[in-house]
Amino acid sequence: MDQKFWDERYLETEQIWSNNPNPVLLEHASTLTPGRALDLGCGEGADARWLAGRGWQVTAVDISPVAIDRARALGDEPAITWQQADVVVAAPTPRAFDLVSLQYFTILKTPGDEGVRGIIDAVAVGGTLLSVFHEIPDNPPEHWHDLNPHDFYQPHDIGTLLGDDWRIDIDQTQSRTTAPPEGSHHTHDTVLLAVRLS
Ligand SMILES: C[S@@+](CC[C@H](N)C(=O)[O-])C[C@H]1O[C@@H](n2cnc3c(N)ncnc32)[C@H](O)[C@@H]1O
Repeated sequence: MDQKFWDERYLETEQIWSNNPNPVLLEHASTLTPGRALDLGCGEGADARWLAGRGWQVTAVDISPVAIDRARALGDEPAITWQQADVVVAAPTPRAFDLVSLQYFTILKTPGDEGVRGIIDAVAVGGTLLSVFHEIPDNPPEHWHDLNPHDFYQPHDIGTLLGDDWRIDIDQTQSRTTAPPEGSHHTHDTVLLAVRLS
């Protein structure tokens, strides 16, 4: 799932995602005071635009230049900085963001957890880390057969890497409140919501 994979995926169709912000982000970010947000794996940018509309200064990052160009074309905002980058290679600025959001975005596990630690480090003191992914079914559907979802950090895995300087508010599986994307079998999400205390 490198840049080529995602570019080809985006080029298959004019628009993949619904252009609606993700419901779990809406639910939790609505209660936060706007500040600096980092939207990792921003795709076509619906979350970034929603955050900007609520007063956040948003850095929206995606590995795919096709996604970034499309996100910008779908609705640019002065409060959004669009960045094409592989977050595993180019770690975000440490302690710089009041909200770091990973919506259906994950990365491959590595022995030293370097990439994911770079993501965790991006959260400022007092800031929130929100990671949402599809629940992994016991029998993954056909299109996952050449990928093992357990090889990727799930929200709970990220929670296990947080130290004493964090408070974990949510680490659970929950029903989706909206219909899954067309053609998808996903009925539940796994969610991690954590706050850096110091
Ligand atoms: C399933 S999509 C989710 C898009 C968006 N968050 C949403 O919910 O609509 C995952 C996104 O992560 C991006 N991505 C994958 N690996 C990445 C990486 N290493 N660094 C930055 N973005 C990455 C992909 O290009 C893709 O747009």
